[in-house]
Amino acid sequence: SPARVLLHPDFTVGTVDRRLFGSFVEHLGRAVYTGIHEPGHPTADGHGFRRDVADLTRELGVTTVRYPGGNFVSNYRWEDAVGPVEQRKPFLDLAWRTVEPNVVGTDEFLQWAEREGIQPMMAVNLGTRGVEEAVALLEYCNGEAGTRWADLRIANGREKPYDVKLWCLGNEMDGPWQVGRKDAHEYGKLARNAGRAMKQVDPSIELVACGSSSMEMPTFGEWERTVLEYTYDLVDHISMHAYYHEVDGDRASFLGSGTAMDRFIERVAASADAVGAQSRSDKRITISFDEWNVWYQSRFPGEDNLPIQKDAPRIIEDVYSGLDAVVVGDLLVTLLNHADRVPVACLAQLVNVIAPIMTEPGGEAWRQPTFHPFATTARLAQGDALDLRVSAPTITTKAHGEVPAVTAAATLADGAVALFLTNRSAEPVEVEVAHLGAALEIAEGWSMTADHEPAVVGPEHAEKVTAEHWGEFDVAGRVAGDAGASSTTVTLPPES
Ligand code: AHR
Repeated sequence: SPARVLLHPDFTVGTVDRRLFGSFVEHLGRAVYTGIHEPGHPTADGHGFRRDVADLTRELGVTTVRYPGGNFVSNYRWEDAVGPVEQRKPFLDLAWRTVEPNVVGTDEFLQWAEREGIQPMMAVNLGTRGVEEAVALLEYCNGEAGTRWADLRIANGREKPYDVKLWCLGNEMDGPWQVGRKDAHEYGKLARNAGRAMKQVDPSIELVACGSSSMEMPTFGEWERTVLEYTYDLVDHISMHAYYHEVDGDRASFLGSGTAMDRFIERVAASADAVGAQSRSDKRITISFDEWNVWYQSRFPGEDNLPIQKDAPRIIEDVYSGLDAVVVGDLLVTLLNHADRVPVACLAQLVNVIAPIMTEPGGEAWRQPTFHPFATTARLAQGDALDLRVSAPTITTKAHGEVPAVTAAATLADGAVALFLTNRSAEPVEVEVAHLGAALEIAEGWSMTADHEPAVVGPEHAEKVTAEHWGEFDVAGRVAGDAGASSTTVTLPPES
């Protein structure tokens, strides 16, 4: 058989942190306004949030949501978006050149997350602001009555602290596009000072230091080293961001994107460990992969070329195909295989902006093809990630060299194994799955296959792609031999 996966229930990578199935809502385009929030929409709840979007968010299985940015946070004044809505003033967000009405702010978002059972992940502005504002926001969110900012929250109608656990120290501070961009030393010092003060307010929080905006940044590696030299003892995670898309019709490289993600994770982990080794620290920095997805950045004119707009304009509303969904599945396999090192990951983003959920203002909400692999993985990847041995033929790609044609991840919880397989090749592939330890009975199977059609905007096309490319995988029908034996052979469809 050309590919083989060997699993044993005792060999594990680590427990899958539920925060691996996070997402992201930024004040960008229609993510907030006409995305999660639209008073007057037929499904709007008493707080003006769309019920249809919240229901799809639950179905997607999202556990944590990062907010309020992204690039947006680097020029955000959170205090201007709390208190009576009619007294809040709009401001010009320089990141996306959009007039932000400040109708949804910290309280509205955190209460939405709470109602939906989502753990919030907040970011502080270290672009145009600093230690004082970061500490004030944390006190506003987590403080008990009796201090200025906690009392302001209470005056604004929220008695109980929100107890937000996860905090990003800024966003993509190495990016030339970032408002208030810093060099690694400037950022490292600021992150250390802000983080230290924040932990004095609430020692129970977890902090994320900004890593490089992508592996392609010229300062990649050096940035991680410098930032962590300032912050190693203080922060818990270093961030990673990566977006993948098909370039010039190079399908093979696009399908191999998981290999690029895998190398990126290994390199960031190595950079962090080098700092730890140098300081003889026993602490291990983990990774918050707080932005990842397929994003056709080549179609985006760039932030600086956006006109100044208002009223929730359509910005980077990528429409996804079955091919994109297969790549999303492959990226999830990569994340699962690093469960020991990556406890937090956010599919960027949740609604309308490079998102699995789309909406029409006043109209329907629907699932993009990328919704399905995410929702199914979030549902089935429970318990521990298994340390698999995978052998597979390779494919030669322009962008990543030789990549395996088949990738695999597996989880185990209460005797139930979930096995995630991708076939990146254009041919069907037989995979022998050897499960040492116990014979397996097959409960369910799901598959997504790639398409060759360009994606078209709208719910009809999304449904058509779903009907043709996503659905139950007839495992029994595809298994050669006895499915109850300790080895089974499954045939994977091409590009699936
Ligand atoms: O997710 C869209 C943008 O991508 C975010 O604002 C930024 O952090 C990244 O460059």
